[in-house]
Amino acid sequence: MYHRLFVILITIASICTQCQSQRSFTIDFDRDTFVKDGKPFRYVSGSIHMYRMPREYWTDRLERMWAAGLNAIQTYVFWDQHEPIEGVYNFEDNNDLVGFIQLAQKIGFVVILRIGPYGCGEHEFGGFPWWLLRNLDNIQFRQMNSVYLNAVTRWMSVLLPKIRPLLYNNGGPVISVQVENEYGSYSACDHNYMGYLRDIFRQYLGENVVLFTVDGNGLNYLRCGTVRGVYTTIDFGPDTNVNESFNYQRQYAPCGPLINTEFYPGWLDLWGHQHSTVSTDSIVKTLDQMLSIGVNVNFYMFYGGTNFGFTSGADPDYNPQPTSYDYDAPISEPGDITLKYMAIRTIIGNYLPLPSTPVPGNNTKKAYGTVRLSFKQSLLSYIKTHSSYCTTSMYPKRFEELGQNQAFVVYSTILNNPEVQGKVLDLSGIRDRAYVLLGEKSIGIAYRANSSSLKLTIQAPGNRETHLNIIVENMGRLNYGDNLLDTKGIVKNITLNGQMLVNWTMCISGSLFDQAPTDFIMNEFENFDPNAPNIYTGDFSITDKIPSDTFLLPITVSKGYWEKGVAYMNKYNLGRYWPILGPQVTLYIPGPWLNPSGMNSLTMIELQSSPCGNEQMCSIELVDYPILDKPTLLPAPLLYK
Ligand SMILES: *[C@@H]1O[C@H](CO)[C@@H](O)[C@H](O)[C@H]1NC(C)=O
Ligand SMILES: *[C@@H]1O[C@H](CO)[C@@H](O)[C@H](O)[C@H]1NC(C)=O
Ligand SMILES: *[C@@H]1O[C@H](CO)[C@@H](O)[C@H](O)[C@H]1NC(C)=O
Ligand SMILES: *[C@@H]1O[C@H](CO)[C@@H](O)[C@H](O)[C@H]1NC(C)=O
Ligand SMILES: *[C@@H]1O[C@H](CO)[C@@H](O)[C@H](O)[C@H]1NC(C)=O
Repeated sequence: MYHRLFVILITIASICTQCQSQRSFTIDFDRDTFVKDGKPFRYVSGSIHMYRMPREYWTDRLERMWAAGLNAIQTYVFWDQHEPIEGVYNFEDNNDLVGFIQLAQKIGFVVILRIGPYGCGEHEFGGFPWWLLRNLDNIQFRQMNSVYLNAVTRWMSVLLPKIRPLLYNNGGPVISVQVENEYGSYSACDHNYMGYLRDIFRQYLGENVVLFTVDGNGLNYLRCGTVRGVYTTIDFGPDTNVNESFNYQRQYAPCGPLINTEFYPGWLDLWGHQHSTVSTDSIVKTLDQMLSIGVNVNFYMFYGGTNFGFTSGADPDYNPQPTSYDYDAPISEPGDITLKYMAIRTIIGNYLPLPSTPVPGNNTKKAYGTVRLSFKQSLLSYIKTHSSYCTTSMYPKRFEELGQNQAFVVYSTILNNPEVQGKVLDLSGIRDRAYVLLGEKSIGIAYRANSSSLKLTIQAPGNRETHLNIIVENMGRLNYGDNLLDTKGIVKNITLNGQMLVNWTMCISGSLFDQAPTDFIMNEFENFDPNAPNIYTGDFSITDKIPSDTFLLPITVSKGYWEKGVAYMNKYNLGRYWPILGPQVTLYIPGPWLNPSGMNSLTMIELQSSPCGNEQMCSIELVDYPILDKPTLLPAPLLYK
């Protein structure tokens, strides 16, 4: 008896020394596999971005991924979220990257990190910070350019020392780190730049970490996207010839593990295009093919989440992405376990042991009902009275020159002749959307993506007003493509019947709309115009001790839709709504953003036309289901590649 105990103790002791001495993650090139702690290892991973859900839900979503049988998660690091102002860093709260990675480790995952510096990911500017666009004269993105690289190098000197202790060999969960992102799809094709990034990563992370690149499954991508000393991986979606695709990887990685870094179980949406879906049958078929030949795979996205606030980007043809990043992913935006999830889990279970923990049930969603709102102040007046910075100049300045990132800038000038009826404003320099007012009266909307809206014929008979006010909205910077110099505001002089308008006053909105606007000037009701950009608020109370998730349906029953704007629950910016265009109609509201057992406040910045009529009162509905698939005119967005 005591002899057996002794043997057990010896065994435990020797296992423990082994774990310590063998905590390692490498590639075995002879056996075409990863090796973790001395044993062959294959990952089945899912993408999830901590920014795209409230921190209160990090554990919930990660546990759902764990229950699916995944053994790894993959995440982007979006630079703009962590360095919102040049040299000012934010790793707190929802940006607590180290906390998120440690949480994933606690649940049992290894972690695949994509730190760019560029990320795409349908995120505003692909994750680049806006302030890189302040001076366009000298910067070139994603290549050997000193302005760009100085900023990148400084950022990496802040970020990478935080990552180093999280590497697998150092006791953390991070098994591999991606260099750049699908660089082969970018025309610059600067091999020196890729080498420069590789060297910085090595300098801060050491020689032992697995670095990798990812590119589309074609030699034209791999030619520019790969770099010596960094492992080559590829990405592709379902209904693709698996063997043929990996033959491309093999041309650049003749031995080592086969890896699909982005396998698409869903797809992104664009405003004005049909909602994207990907069939479960096609996913499980291709997944099974990959797993049967030993492939390492990451689902992009396994949980998509939400582009809260002003964090969504736009595609190269200037189609902005909507607020929901549901992605038709296996776990839906509010965390639901879909049939797709269950089908994928079954396939994974044929290759990897499934965890003993049961698949969690869906979270409760609640219809809190009608919320009545009333007019507070016009947006024009609110910005003019609250702006932290107004300036004048002969020619209009861009957002970035004015120190403005997202939201709005008001551009105002005085016309030297009030005879404007029938004259044509050329607004082709608008980035991205302009709400044009003569005095306080709306005379039209111009939108970068709608060429017929850019020549605006003024219809304002009898209006002798000479103050022209243009509220310009940033709808999200391009996150993909060769032209990344996507600055906002008025980027080309505006003409009226061919005559250039000069002497502009510009008032920035600064951070006024990052959270819900407050402190309204309450004596403006006489000027109320439901067809001008306005701010509305409404309070409602709930009795729940633990509030549930709910969805904002921007509709006033019997009167119709709110058209387009930004909505807030309490202080939280829920993102942009545009239900008359679609496909997204409802906005997701996480339960933790509601005040339990008490008053809550909803704010709508309606930019076009509210359904309030002249009563200054109208409503929205809080419902217990999402609508993300309203039919629209345009087809579903295609794969980028
Ligand atoms: C793919 O290659 C594997 C061997 O590596 C083979 O068994 C399988 O039949 C091939 N699949 C197709 C569709 O060609
Ligand atoms: C969970 O939600 C999904 C998607 O909304 C639905 O298909 C599924 O039936 C729900 N599961 C349960 C157990 O209700
Ligand atoms: C494009 O602009 C024209 C002119 O302003 C407008 O009539 C039309 O509705 C716009 N189209 C879309 C899809 O917004
Ligand atoms: C407006 O025109 C002036 C004079 O030609 C030019 O210097 C300025 O750069 C132009 N501004 C914009 C925003 O195009
Ligand atoms: C613009 O402002 C300058 C300085 O105030 C003034 O001299 C000039 O006449 C103005 N130009 C126009 C077209 O109003």
